[in-house]
Amino acid sequence: MNNVKIYPDVAAISQAVAKKWSVLSEQAISEHGGFHVALSGGSTPRYLFDYLATSAYRDSINWEKTHIYFGDERSVSPEHEESNFNMARHALLDKVNIPASQIYRMKGEAAAIEDSAMQYAALLKKMLPTSEKGESQFDLVLLGMGDDGHTASLFPNTQILQEKSELVRAVFVEKMKTWRISITFRVINNARNIVVMVTGENKKNVLAHVLKARAPESLYPITMIQPAGDMQWYIDTAAANAAS
Ligand code: 6PG
Repeated sequence: MNNVKIYPDVAAISQAVAKKWSVLSEQAISEHGGFHVALSGGSTPRYLFDYLATSAYRDSINWEKTHIYFGDERSVSPEHEESNFNMARHALLDKVNIPASQIYRMKGEAAAIEDSAMQYAALLKKMLPTSEKGESQFDLVLLGMGDDGHTASLFPNTQILQEKSELVRAVFVEKMKTWRISITFRVINNARNIVVMVTGENKKNVLAHVLKARAPESLYPITMIQPAGDMQWYIDTAAANAAS
């Protein structure tokens, strides 16, 4: 059963998710000394990052004990306008006092992009807490959803959807003729908390189908998430119209 909350707009979603981030951060830091969060990319999360950088959260969240990872990255330099790191850096990371050593950038620009993915997987195994089953476990994974049902860089008709053991893979996305690096379902499914933010009229039909899906469908990769922890959808009324 999907846990779905509907908000008027992305600003209201960002305020609600910022509050959830703050609560989960406090809980994780008191339980195991740090908060390990994977950021989503694209444009929606920028509003959340801007809000987290406002004084309300900039001064109340324990950024010194926060560890920032990326759910996926494009094959561009960290200064490129398409870079998820670049967006997060300008909207949030340069504005709060997270130690630079606790910001783990995915090196999507690497020529040997598969090596870069393997190195990131090794980093996750080294840095993330482990669950009772010994799985690398994020405290929070932020995700978005494309209008084709993709999430992170888990796109329809790509090999990475079948990846069962690696935590991170490089993937060539045919329809965009580009390489990406992405976390896989294995590490997403083992997260303690997953938050999905979906906004916009253009996503309402796919979202309605995804939220009603009774079984995983590789045509809509986000339906393939089978969370061991809590998964919460934050959607705006424009995206919810056909879903409700
Ligand atoms: C990326 C993201 C991607 C994103 C969706 C939705 O690198 O593009 O990780 O999975 O979350 O494409 O993006 P929007 O929320 O900006 O529509």
